[in-house]
Amino acid sequence: MVIEKICCLGAGYVGGPTCSVIALKCPDITVTVCDKSEDRIKQWNSDKLPIYEPGLDDVVKTCRGRNLFFSTDIAKGIQEADLIFISVNTPTKIVGNGKGRAADLKYVESAARMIADLATSNKIVVEKSTVPVKAAEIIMKILRANTKPGVDYQILSNPEFLAEGTAIVDLIEADRVLIGGEETPEGQKAIQELCWVYEHWIPAKNILTTNTWSSELSKLAANAFLAQRISSINSLTAVCEATGADVAEVAKAVGRDSRIGPKFLEASIGFGGSCFQKDILNLIYLSECLHLPEVAAYWQQVLSLNEFQKTRFTRKVIESLFNTVTDKNIAILGFSFKKNTGDTRESPAIHVSKTLLDEGAKLHIYDPKVEPEQIYYELTGTYVKTEHENIKKCVEIHDTAYSAVTGAHAIVLCTEWDEFKELNFNKIYEVMMKPAYLFDGRKILDHEALQRIGFHVQTIGKRL
Ligand code: NAD
Ligand code: UGA
Repeated sequence: MVIEKICCLGAGYVGGPTCSVIALKCPDITVTVCDKSEDRIKQWNSDKLPIYEPGLDDVVKTCRGRNLFFSTDIAKGIQEADLIFISVNTPTKIVGNGKGRAADLKYVESAARMIADLATSNKIVVEKSTVPVKAAEIIMKILRANTKPGVDYQILSNPEFLAEGTAIVDLIEADRVLIGGEETPEGQKAIQELCWVYEHWIPAKNILTTNTWSSELSKLAANAFLAQRISSINSLTAVCEATGADVAEVAKAVGRDSRIGPKFLEASIGFGGSCFQKDILNLIYLSECLHLPEVAAYWQQVLSLNEFQKTRFTRKVIESLFNTVTDKNIAILGFSFKKNTGDTRESPAIHVSKTLLDEGAKLHIYDPKVEPEQIYYELTGTYVKTEHENIKKCVEIHDTAYSAVTGAHAIVLCTEWDEFKELNFNKIYEVMMKPAYLFDGRKILDHEALQRIGFHVQTIGKRL
């Protein structure tokens, strides 16, 4: 079969950018991204896309209406497609068996059931979402228990490795594409068909093919390894602060070993994002189910250290402000979980903000890309507008960093947005309360210059 039509179930941070790039690089393929959320699809079809991602607007503008479509007509999308990506969310379960650790596969299951109900011809079904090992078996069972005459399924695993903020570059210049499938002739043929799609722009040597379970586990392992590097460097920040070592110098010296490498050794207030914690929890749960408590404990420590880091930083802020922030104005610069995204899922800024609010602080928050409603949602746990009214008494969202810092007792920098490096700190010092405190949770500012202006500066992994 030559793939002429692709459908993607799930128009989120992965489905949207991934399919936009496939449409860009494969003009001979028609790509339809479907979502059950009408609102999300409406935004994908508008001038203001539902997610901020550098370069995405241009790709969508080039392809939308040509060979890229966004639709809520899931039935049509499934029926017409030769290949279907399942790119739905796989959050951590919040109730029931395995709650707090296991992945909730209800959206994956519902996607599989939709395909089983609606398909009228052969399909290659591709698991793009991050899932526990053996999840493809669930999809297989649902599809193969519901086969109709003339409808045959092949199920592949093709995890996504893009990072938010660099998604388009990551997709276009992927280090590798990973495709896992069954070791039968039909399974191998389906792998080759998906390889052909990626070979439109990815060199064949960078496309790795494995069995299904290796592919599923490799995705969890890759995220666990990345998060482990951050927890490793963050564990040393406390040692640096106590001894006078500088974590940036340590990271540079350690990373120069070509076996270790320099990337992903930026000390921070802790990692955030929708996936690291969720995927490590997933690995922990899998290890527990396989009666491997030592393996589970090993990965649990990566998460525990991350919690420790967020708490340690916030405690430092409070202790420096004479151990009380009640009624003090604190400017929070940056609310997204990293720069160049408006995504706030698991952002360390949430932990910092909630702890300061619990201590009675008045927060003045500025982020260049996060919508105010999203900040209120993260701080209240609901999108219900009336619930936001209460929190508005102690949280003000600002349009500029300068407005947020005016009258502030302290600045807490939570996200490494480039624009924060360009701020006029002489001007900022003038409009702040004195003594003026600045806590750089991302190590991006010139601390000596700030001290010369008069700021009391604290950062991560370096005693100032
Ligand atoms: P998301 O929440 O942004 O998007 C998921 C979308 O799926 C939602 O819009 C939801 O409405 C839709 N959906 C759910 N069930 C559906 C159904 N049956 N039919 C149609 N649409 C349905 O999630 P995301 O960030 O895009 O993540 C998706 C998956 O990719 C997750 O498993 C995640 O772990 C993985 N992943 C995410 C990233 C990332 O950077 N966000 C990177 C790599 C992998
Ligand atoms: C991460 C992985 O990098 C992707 O490969 C993966 O596909 C994705 O998760 C996923 O599965 O969802 P993402 O979470 O978007 O991507 O962003 P990262 O760049 O990995 O950053 C995650 C968090 O770690 C951020 O809060 C970031 O500030 C923090 N970080 C990153 C550090 O604290 N130090 C570093 O050196 C790097």
